[in-house]
Amino acid sequence: MSNTSTNSDTSGLSAGATAATIALGVVGGIVVIVIAIAIIRCIQKNKMQARNTSMQITSVSAVNVNSNIDMVTIERFLADIVKERPVRFTTQNIIDFTQNFAQKLGSGGFGIVYKGQFPNGVQIAVKVLHKTQDKRAEEQFMAEIGTIGRTYHINLVQLYGFCFDDTLKALIYEYMEKGSLDGYLFDESQKLKWEKLHEIAIGTAKGIRYLHEECQKKIVHYDIKPGNVLLDANFSPKVADFGLARLCDRDNSHISLTGGRGTPGYAAPELWMPYPVTHKCDVYSYGMLLFEILGRRRNLIIGLAESREWFPRWIWDKFEEGELESVMSNCGIEYTDRDKAERMCKVALWCVQYQPDARPSMNSVVRMLEGEEEIIAPTNPFQYMMSFDGSSSQWSESRGYSTSTTSATNESEANSLIHQNQ
Ligand SMILES: Nc1ncnc2c1ncn2[C@@H]1O[C@H](COP(=O)(O)OP(=O)(O)OP(=O)(O)O)[C@@H](O)[C@H]1O
Ligand SMILES: [Mg+2]
Repeated sequence: MSNTSTNSDTSGLSAGATAATIALGVVGGIVVIVIAIAIIRCIQKNKMQARNTSMQITSVSAVNVNSNIDMVTIERFLADIVKERPVRFTTQNIIDFTQNFAQKLGSGGFGIVYKGQFPNGVQIAVKVLHKTQDKRAEEQFMAEIGTIGRTYHINLVQLYGFCFDDTLKALIYEYMEKGSLDGYLFDESQKLKWEKLHEIAIGTAKGIRYLHEECQKKIVHYDIKPGNVLLDANFSPKVADFGLARLCDRDNSHISLTGGRGTPGYAAPELWMPYPVTHKCDVYSYGMLLFEILGRRRNLIIGLAESREWFPRWIWDKFEEGELESVMSNCGIEYTDRDKAERMCKVALWCVQYQPDARPSMNSVVRMLEGEEEIIAPTNPFQYMMSFDGSSSQWSESRGYSTSTTSATNESEANSLIHQNQ
């Protein structure tokens, strides 16, 4: 009995186990099927999205650029953006993006800038570099591009890509809607509010501070000036053309009589003298820019009354006499802004000190402008000029001004480039 009962118990148990195994099998099967369906749906969705994206790019390409830009380039572009690397484009790409160099934005020491657009609608500025005698090796060009392309900051203009063909060397930048700061400083009809100018001064200083102190490889700009401070749609500033000094030669509008670098009027004295040059040359140029922001005028205006011809010197004289108030009223600065404006005066006077070591770091500049660092009374930055006085021409030379401007060769070179590309 007990055996029988044990057997029937055993058979009951094994039947129960079989049922449980079957149930588990069924549930497991259902789970596997559900997962498989989910995976298939996911793959199908991704494929659909990819197809939609590529269709969008193709249609924008057809409508906006009317070009034959190959999808491989665009895909490489998108992949490189993810990898945070500037993309290499062909001459034909550049012609397509700029609709054959149809809209010129301006020109400078490195080349001519044209407006353009990527097939996905993103607006760009294309800087077509001058041909130089000194042909940079491709590897060197790439190395510099790599450095510039990996430099990201809210106050720096971003480099999207470049072209390095025999017929065309060009750089592709993000497009800055409001153009360069000089248009707003020196054009009576386009004046910005003082508070905005103060923000622009601080943003610009932060961009330079990043180049000097925060990015992977320190970059000296060599050409800080209002033309190289670009403004986005909200008038936020971004420093342009950093890294270019190492990338290419400049035309002779930027070389002073003594063969230095930088732009006359902004270039530090050591740039046009046989002295070592450090990142402090940017601090000097920034100081000159700060004076111009403060006065909403060019630093040198020949023929102005009194000693106001050369604005930085006039500010020093007023500071020394304890008369900064007259600078404020002359510049039309409202009473509420005077504290900040006074800081700007003192910081600018520190930045343009003759001795590079006496100039502050850009970090100190930012902190002083923001009121986080005390500003001690500046020393006379123009002591070294005491031997000069009198005529404007002597003044111009002693301050590194020359009369040359952007040369006509820019135009002719661009024309020849366009002809070559047609
Ligand atoms: N990314 C950009 N977005 C919009 N406009 C631009 C851009 N880059 C340049 N420009 C326009 O093109 C003009 C010429 O620029 P370019 O850099 O060639 O000359 P520059 O700044 O006067 O001199 P430099 O050669 O010393 O930089 C600028 O003043 C600006 O108006
Ligand atoms: Mg520029």
